[in-house]
Amino acid sequence: MSLVQEIDKRRTFGIISHPDAGKTTLTEKLLLFGGAIQKAGAVKSNKIDMHARSDWMDIEKQRGISVATSVMAFEYEGRRINLLDTPGHQDFAEDTYRTLTAVDSVIMVIDCVKGVEIQTEKLMEVCRMRSTPVISFINKLDREGRDPYDLLDEIEGKLGINVHPLSWPIGMGKTFKGVYSLYDKSLRLFQASRQQLHEEATQIEDINSSELEDYIGEKDAAQLREDVELLSDLYGDLDVDDYLNGDVAPVFFGSAVNNFGVKELLDTFLNISPRPKGRMLDEKSIEPEYKDFTGFVFKIHANMDPKHRNRIAFLRICSGKFERGLNYYHTRQDKKFRISQATAFMAQDKETIDEAYPGDIIGLYDTGNFKIGDTLTLGEKGMYRGIPSFSPEIFREVINKDAMKTKQLEKGLSQLMDEGVAQLFNFELGSRKAVGVVGQLQFEVIQHRLKNEYGATVEFAPMQLFKACWISAEDENKLNEFIKSKQRHIARDKDGKLVFMAESKAWLQMVQDNFPDIQFHFTSEF
Ligand code: G4P
Repeated sequence: MSLVQEIDKRRTFGIISHPDAGKTTLTEKLLLFGGAIQKAGAVKSNKIDMHARSDWMDIEKQRGISVATSVMAFEYEGRRINLLDTPGHQDFAEDTYRTLTAVDSVIMVIDCVKGVEIQTEKLMEVCRMRSTPVISFINKLDREGRDPYDLLDEIEGKLGINVHPLSWPIGMGKTFKGVYSLYDKSLRLFQASRQQLHEEATQIEDINSSELEDYIGEKDAAQLREDVELLSDLYGDLDVDDYLNGDVAPVFFGSAVNNFGVKELLDTFLNISPRPKGRMLDEKSIEPEYKDFTGFVFKIHANMDPKHRNRIAFLRICSGKFERGLNYYHTRQDKKFRISQATAFMAQDKETIDEAYPGDIIGLYDTGNFKIGDTLTLGEKGMYRGIPSFSPEIFREVINKDAMKTKQLEKGLSQLMDEGVAQLFNFELGSRKAVGVVGQLQFEVIQHRLKNEYGATVEFAPMQLFKACWISAEDENKLNEFIKSKQRHIARDKDGKLVFMAESKAWLQMVQDNFPDIQFHFTSEF
């Protein structure tokens, strides 16, 4: 197969949702329909196996959340699908944001009872920033949920994206009879079943045909005709380009746990979703067809076994072909690396691969050479952009409780930061270190892992900090003046970039007013 054919074949996407909306269930059902797994429960039980093998992940087990983002690849209908799962828990939002940089589109699961929830709003903001195409799956139609028109309004209002329903529910909850596909004009009748895997569609081209009554009865047929007419007036036909540009989100209705609406979603997704897209390497746009390999690391996963420190770096291939055994250029370190082993993530098994293509995610064994955002190429010398750090929300000072283990602490902190567990800010004055996180739970993970994996004991002391702002100025003298006058509040991030540590919102505003020549940024890429 040529490079272009390999690219055309691939679809790389992420599933996002507020916790409990049904992301894990939908993921599992997509894998079942795709033939990648044979029995329900496999995705969840895999999670439990992982926990059993790891001490530090006990925290995760206890709280029933998924810290890790996993990648599952499978072949379906001639396509290679790379599905990236994301942690739903808000404390690990940064991990999810980074994963979204590695996908070309997103499926967003919404609970029809709860509607749009806060975490979905935040994730959608990230999708919007990157114009990522989004398909929405409204789940749990077997329960008494909200009116579908209200749900569509809420998605438009709260998520700031136009919707376009491609299927429409007939009834809901106890009276849920199925969905009518506005996309391929077929009727799918609902049967509550956690086991059965077929989803039969009956073609009903003409919604006015009396056949409809035979399937769903007079009352529902009349309602459906009314709905379909209204929807067609409101939305017309989907312009797939509007979806591909991230302007319109097609919407499906179903019930993941009952295997309902999942095949329809998967089949339509394969028809309309984007092939792997190009990305910006510094100022240059690199298309996937570009002959030389390029890719970037968006996630680093620590080995489950604390005795072995090696990690897996997850790399998204952006262009060209990956071949095992070649020497790749590591831009940040300005040196070449031979990559003799790489893995693909086929459903739940890891397997060694010899080659991979744009859109694929490969796992590289890492002994400390990679950081999130690192770029590997076969000659190009730039860095992929677009994995910014966001200002954390909570800060604590790191207190070393065992002076004998200072070295281990330094090493542990640095490695955990490379993995993107949290952000470390080193104050310019003195040796104070602030750890910034999105959610409280990350402090526990860090404390636990430092102890278990590095033997270092730390405590975290509260800090009165509001935001970390990356600073820049056109005039270097002005920047230096600012640094001098605010020395106590200046720190460096993991890449040595200058950061102003603002103590409160009001104070930050005052400083901004007093220093108009300084730019304050809330993300590390500006
Ligand atoms: P998440 O990954 O987004 O956090 O959600 P997950 O799939 O774990 O689903 C959360 C709960 O919602 C699960 O129930 C799951 O079975 C249920 N669920 C998923 N899809 C549907 C659906 O279409 N209809 C209904 N009624 N429920 C659905 P649980 O009680 O936590 O687990 P379980 O014991 O049912 O597996």
